[in-house]
Amino acid sequence: MYTDLPLIKRYQEFLPVTEKTPLVTLGEGNTPLVQAANLPKHIGQSKLKLYFKLEGLNPTGSFKDRGMTLAISKALEAGSRAVICASTGNTSASAAAFAIKAGLCCYVLLPSGAVALGKLAQAILYGARVIALDGNFDQALDMVRQLAADCPLTVVNSINPFRLEGQKTAAFEIVDQLGAAPTHLFIPVGNAGNISAYWRGFKAYKRSGRAASTPALLGFEAEGSAAIVRGYPIAAPETIATAIRIGNPASWQEAAQAASESGGKIDSVTDAEILDAYILLARNEGIFCEPSSAASVAGLIKHCKLGTIAPDATVVCVLTGHGLKDPNTAMNLVKADLTPVPAELTRLKEVMKL
Ligand code: F0G
Repeated sequence: MYTDLPLIKRYQEFLPVTEKTPLVTLGEGNTPLVQAANLPKHIGQSKLKLYFKLEGLNPTGSFKDRGMTLAISKALEAGSRAVICASTGNTSASAAAFAIKAGLCCYVLLPSGAVALGKLAQAILYGARVIALDGNFDQALDMVRQLAADCPLTVVNSINPFRLEGQKTAAFEIVDQLGAAPTHLFIPVGNAGNISAYWRGFKAYKRSGRAASTPALLGFEAEGSAAIVRGYPIAAPETIATAIRIGNPASWQEAAQAASESGGKIDSVTDAEILDAYILLARNEGIFCEPSSAASVAGLIKHCKLGTIAPDATVVCVLTGHGLKDPNTAMNLVKADLTPVPAELTRLKEVMKL
């Protein structure tokens, strides 16, 4: 059902807002849930009812906008003048956009050299004060916590309680779009906030009677950053999926509990599996997501091979961010011959083998 109500208004009864809360909106949420056409057959699971939640179609190109609309609205309501976040890129783009709309100053601390180009361009263009930190994401988040303890800054990372409350709305939308909860939800895990938010959302919908069941949540860390899977923080996390290159997830406990309570688990996928899924999505479904997002599909493929998913399951893979965020990974992965061809018909036909 189409609605142009701001996300916060649409799900107001589930969110910590009042009539007095100023709404800062960029038209977030309401993202498509698209059924797979070719991938189930390609992976030998032709009976699978597989859907993709296209969170890259949010206004700044990632799911972060769902939490940011609420975090920035509440910061404004509380009289904050400036916000700050550490980010692997998407949070910074979202924070910068919502902050500028609200008239707030926005500081972002990015791990130097480890943020995809599109995300960096967004934060800079939206006018945030961008600082490239000589350190990784975990160190940047630690700096943010210390700065906010000393200075009048509102932290808009997912440690801000309003972020996960806003992000719950994705679970509501999936149930509304499918008419019921799926049996399984596959999702990438970085700082572990989003999987925690989905679980809050599915549980709240069941409690309210709007859903009869909840799905099993299967979350996927990148193998080189898989702190939750290994059971200890990783000092130097590594993965090509820079959005989830995080060695000490802030929502570790809640995420681990969400996965087990739901009957799912937190697992890991290798960079090779992530890149395979990234290409498979583009070449089977016409979907260009960022590498980190493809971790959900890599996880699905892994678990289908393990035989843990019923053949006729209803599965949603959350695709958290748009592929255009990270053009370099695509260009480096798929070598194209871009040598200019003369604008002559015969030569062109030769090159095109027509
Ligand atoms: N996918 C994308 C595209 C992300 O940007 C992130 C996190 C995740 C998945 C993981 O979500 O952290 O809630 O488990 N990006 C954060 C950022 C860390 O700074 O943009 P999570």
